Amino acid sequence: MKNISTYVNQHRDRFLNELIDLLKIPSISADSAYKKDVEQTAEVVKTRLEEAGCDHVEICETDGYPIVYGEKIIDKKLPTVLVYGHYDVQPPDPLNLWNSPPFEPIIKKTELHPEGAIFARGACDDKGQMYMHVKAMEFMTKTNQLPCNVKFMIEGEEEVGSSNLAIFVKKNQEKLKNDVILISDTGMIAKDVPSITTGLRGLSYVEVEVTGPNRDLHSGLYGGAVANPINVLTKMIASLHDENNHITIPGFYDKVENLSKEERAEMAKAPFSLEAYKKSLDIDAVYGEAGYTTNERNSIRPTLDVNGIWGGYTGEGAKTVIASKAFAKISMRLVPHQDWEEITQLFKTHFESIAPKGVTVKVKPHHGGQGYVTPIDSIGYQAASKAYFDTFGKTPIPQRSGGSIPIVALFEQELKSKTILMGFGLDSDAIHSPNEHYGLFNYYKGIETIPLFYKYFTELSK
Ligand code: BES
Ligand code: MN
Ligand code: MN
Repeated sequence: MKNISTYVNQHRDRFLNELIDLLKIPSISADSAYKKDVEQTAEVVKTRLEEAGCDHVEICETDGYPIVYGEKIIDKKLPTVLVYGHYDVQPPDPLNLWNSPPFEPIIKKTELHPEGAIFARGACDDKGQMYMHVKAMEFMTKTNQLPCNVKFMIEGEEEVGSSNLAIFVKKNQEKLKNDVILISDTGMIAKDVPSITTGLRGLSYVEVEVTGPNRDLHSGLYGGAVANPINVLTKMIASLHDENNHITIPGFYDKVENLSKEERAEMAKAPFSLEAYKKSLDIDAVYGEAGYTTNERNSIRPTLDVNGIWGGYTGEGAKTVIASKAFAKISMRLVPHQDWEEITQLFKTHFESIAPKGVTVKVKPHHGGQGYVTPIDSIGYQAASKAYFDTFGKTPIPQRSGGSIPIVALFEQELKSKTILMGFGLDSDAIHSPNEHYGLFNYYKGIETIPLFYKYFTELSK
């Protein structure tokens, strides 16, 4: 393809300003107070897709937030790339930990990003990465180099489980028909170490409620004589891991795929510094399942983590009280072959079974999704690999990620096509955290790399 870097350089400032405009809208899907903003973001994405050269763009209403669908079909005989991304973002809290307001994007230089990074909620996850695809499309259409058909499907509920997208995909198989799905919503190993994500973990997310006495009690008058729901809940949670940090739920590991020695050795070749890892998190030791390395623990092994826990008195000062109820939100990251609904059921049965007399326990499933692995011998993977080689001068390393994009497994099931995860984020980008940012280097590099994927994918499909 001709002149990609020239084009990107010429339009550098506009590409950035357009992203800044998108980042200013607080499209927080989890919080209904931002409904208007989420909907407005969909409108902006629609306009940008039209400007980038899509022939037909529509806002597809759902029971939740709309899906923006756009396409340019140049020749039915040519392959079709379906781009997926999301325009919704995580809530920005805790707000006091942000160094600048989350929806007032600013460019700051950092040690890792001397050329600057854009700080805002959604900068990396996923507005910045999604928008690279819109600009790559602009480049291909404006320079008459679009080699194949393109479909865009940008949703507004990824951060809350994509349940309406799942319905949309099942209903629109013909409309969404494609030869490969392309997503930038993951990361790469390092700025100078390109990688392609070959796996995502599944997820089961539950909320638990422990109820003891029918009202809050004076902890002196009743303390020691009735079950304290908070004491009980924390004890139950603690029992979910054994002394080796294995999860104790019966049947939990039954379907977990055990990687061969060779596969694990291959994984261990990816550059990684435990010292730098610990330093970046200000911890003096890592922690996790016995018998596995850090990179294995966060990619090929399943986990169980408390995401939130509450109950009783947490205000200023002290209040002597035994709360009637205690709650926790718990997520389990799953690996391929573990079925999320089955795991949710195993959790529920087990958690209810370990409740002592004197309390009642409720387990409320939230959402979930299956994990995903993709082979590295597909045309899609090869095309992505060649694209990275051209822009980074290095063959990218395949790497399984610990994160989840549950809809990817459903894409394969319903649309029968493979997903290629060309993520350009870094672990240090602080997605879902305060001070989320996205390196300008990564943003522009992504825009330059994506068109080459289209080129090689079309060539290799012949
Ligand atoms: N983009 C992330 C997932 C991700 C990030 C995968 C980095 C790999 C590397 C996505 O937006 C996300 O946050 N997913 C959620 C799951 C969803 C059901 C809320 C997650 O992984 O917690
Ligand atoms: Mn995302
Ligand atoms: Mn996310």
